[in-house]
Amino acid sequence: MRPFDHAGARRAAVFLLLAAVACRTSAPSSTVASMTRTPFGTTPAGEAVELITLTNSHGVELRAMTYGAIIVSLKVPDRSGTLGDVVLGYDSLAGYVKSSPYFGAVVGRYANRIAKGKFALDGTTYTLAVNNGPNALHGGLKGFDKVVWQADTAHTAQGNRVTFRYLSRDGEEGYPGTLAASVSYTLTDANEVQIAYEATTDKATPVNLTQHSYFNLAGSGDILGHQLTIHADRFVPVDSTLIPTGTLAPVAGTPFDFTTAHAVGERINASDEQINHGGGYDHTFVLNRPDTGLVLAAVLQEPTSGRRLEVRTTEPGIQFYTGNFLDGTLRGKDGVAYARRTGLCLESHHFPDSPNQPNFPSTILRPGETYRSRTTWTFGVDSSTAR
Ligand code: BGC
Repeated sequence: MRPFDHAGARRAAVFLLLAAVACRTSAPSSTVASMTRTPFGTTPAGEAVELITLTNSHGVELRAMTYGAIIVSLKVPDRSGTLGDVVLGYDSLAGYVKSSPYFGAVVGRYANRIAKGKFALDGTTYTLAVNNGPNALHGGLKGFDKVVWQADTAHTAQGNRVTFRYLSRDGEEGYPGTLAASVSYTLTDANEVQIAYEATTDKATPVNLTQHSYFNLAGSGDILGHQLTIHADRFVPVDSTLIPTGTLAPVAGTPFDFTTAHAVGERINASDEQINHGGGYDHTFVLNRPDTGLVLAAVLQEPTSGRRLEVRTTEPGIQFYTGNFLDGTLRGKDGVAYARRTGLCLESHHFPDSPNQPNFPSTILRPGETYRSRTTWTFGVDSSTAR
């Protein structure tokens, strides 16, 4: 018989005590965390779409739908405690179906561009739809942002969670292999959205998933006054079609140096070849990564509301896109015309065009492996301590 483990029992008792304290302190406010599912319309093909609403005990609310696993709205407090929606999008499904530059969507099977819509893998050349100048963008004509996912909801120790699942068949949008993909959004009582992706395949295939929310922490107006820090000493320079040149360039001395906080608009009109190619910022930053796991990638602060967003990720890069292609023609929530640079994206992912770039970290998933990627968005107001 094993001797009684006194030290283990003490550790367990301390753990239980701490857990009890954590439970008491993590839900002090008036709201009760909840989760609801409601119908949210039907696609033109007749598929029913559901809207899942997660709230936490501070009243923070995330609404996501099964179409595109799209985050439709995200309400977080400003410094006076007033909740405001900090993501661009539409009031109803119809807007997303009609025309959306990936507002709030999960982008896949391959986020960002693949040059000329072609890549070779294990001796076979695959051809994708060319849907962005000469290149393939964001998974094709009907990428993961335009399909209906299955949703499961769960109350977990971390918070309320919705998990979306989608089975992408072999050959869909030109990609090899049947890919079983999932993404979950968990809303914690620390006002954090935890995003976790998983995928498995039955044939080797590139996989690169991201979340394409357009943030505006003020809730309206442009994003040029937002202050941004990106923990990246290098970025991925691109050609005029936004395909990487293959090198990684230092940010020091360029408008891409966000290693200390700068207003987004401060250098966005600089006469700089890379800025010209993107029509502003539309580049992947190479995250400084002292170790594997989640690292602090970016901190975004909006001075008027005081809202603050910290992005952490397990990915090697983050695409900073300043909504350069918004031009006021799309009318979003409450009929607001989304003018140029009224939202910005911080898309955690691998580097663009990796399937054609032997020096970039691989994006190839093989049978028997599991693709796993995590990103967190932590919301606060400007007293937070991370830099
Ligand atoms: C890309 C942009 C593109 C935008 C919307 C971003 O991820 O980097 O070039 O215009 O998505 O499609």
